[in-house]
Amino acid sequence: MSAVKSIAVLTSGGDSQGMNAAVRAVVRSALYHGLEVYGVQRGYQGLLNDDLRKMDLRSVGDIIQRGGTILQTARCKEFLTPEGQQRGAEVLRERGVDGLVVIGGDGSYQGANKLSKLGIKTMGLPGTIDNDIPFTDYTIGFDTAVSIVVDAINKLRDTMTSHERSSVVEVMGRHCGDIALYAGLASGAETIIVPEVPFDLDAVANRMKENFASGKRHSIIVVAEGAGTGEEIGNGIMTRCGMEPRVTVLGHIQRGGSPTHNDRILASQLGDFAVRKLMEGDSGKSCGIINGELTVTDIDTVVNTKKPFNMELYNLALRLSQ
Ligand code: ADP
Ligand code: F6P
Repeated sequence: MSAVKSIAVLTSGGDSQGMNAAVRAVVRSALYHGLEVYGVQRGYQGLLNDDLRKMDLRSVGDIIQRGGTILQTARCKEFLTPEGQQRGAEVLRERGVDGLVVIGGDGSYQGANKLSKLGIKTMGLPGTIDNDIPFTDYTIGFDTAVSIVVDAINKLRDTMTSHERSSVVEVMGRHCGDIALYAGLASGAETIIVPEVPFDLDAVANRMKENFASGKRHSIIVVAEGAGTGEEIGNGIMTRCGMEPRVTVLGHIQRGGSPTHNDRILASQLGDFAVRKLMEGDSGKSCGIINGELTVTDIDTVVNTKKPFNMELYNLALRLSQ
C-alpha cells in the first residue's frame, strides 16, 4: 500500500540540464504506480499561486533531451516565511496532494524540509550544475556543464596555441570548485583555481613563465567564480610576469543545452527512486547515488554538511599538466 496517492513535482532555484529528464521520470514513475501527479509551475512561487496542472504521460513527452525546465523555476521570498510555508502546505492539501518532489539546490531543499515538517511528504533531487550537494557523487546538470566547459577550452586551445598565448577561463561555482576541477583536469589546464584551495598568484605567474620557457605553446588557467573573477586573475598575472592572458567568462552558457546521457540517466534513476521512497512513506530526504548505490539522506544533514573537495583529483591535475 502506498503512503501517498497524489504527488506534485516542482523545479526551484537555478535551473540545470537534466531537470526535464527528472520531471519526466517523476511523472512517468508516479503514473506507472497508479498515483495522480501534478506539475507546479515556477517553483515555490507557483505553489503559492496555486499554479498546478495535472500531468499525464504525454505532458512529459519530447523533453528528456531538452535543457532548462518545462516547469520553469523561480526564487520566492514569500516562501522563506513561516506563513508562506503554511500557505504552500495548504495549497497542496486543498488539491489532495500528499507528496512533493523538489528538484533544486540546497535552498530549495530547505523549503522541502519545511513542508515535510508541516506534514507534506517531500523528497529532494539534487538539481544544480555546481555539484555542491553532499551525499551524492554527482548532481543533475554537473556532467553537462563540465562537458560545455571542456568543449569551450578545446576551442580556446586552438587559438591560444596559434598565438602562443595564455587563457584564463572563468567558470561557475560560487562555493564549490567542482566544475573548475573536473573541466580543468579533463582539458589539461595548468592551473585550477577554486574556493576550497588557497592559491598564490606569484606561483601561478611563475609556473606559466616556466611552462612557456620549457616549450609549451599555450597555457590554460581555469578559475571558479567563487575564488575570483577571470579579470582579476588575468590582471594579476599580467602585473606579475608581463604576459597578457586572454580572459573568457563562460557564464550562463554552462547552464543551457541538451543534457549528456550521464545527466539523463542520473535524473531518470533519481526521479523514479524519489517516487518509490514517497510511496514507502519517507519524507524530508535527499536522493542521491553514491558508488552506484541509490541512497537517501536527511535534508537536515545534507544542508549542514559541506561536500568534501577531491584533493586527489586536484593534485592529479597539477601533476599531469606540467
Ligand atoms: P537553490 O535551490 O538553487 O539553492 P535558492 O537558494 O535561491 O536556490 O532557493 C530557491 C528557493 O527555495 C528560494 O527562493 C526560496 O523560495 C526557497 N528557500 C530557500 N531557502 C529556504 C529556507 N531556508 N526555507 C524555506 N525556503 C527556502
Ligand atoms: O547555483 C547554480 C549557479 O549557476 C551558480 O554556479 C552561479 O553562481 C549562480 O547559479 C548564478 O545564478 P543566477 O541564475 O542568479 O545568475
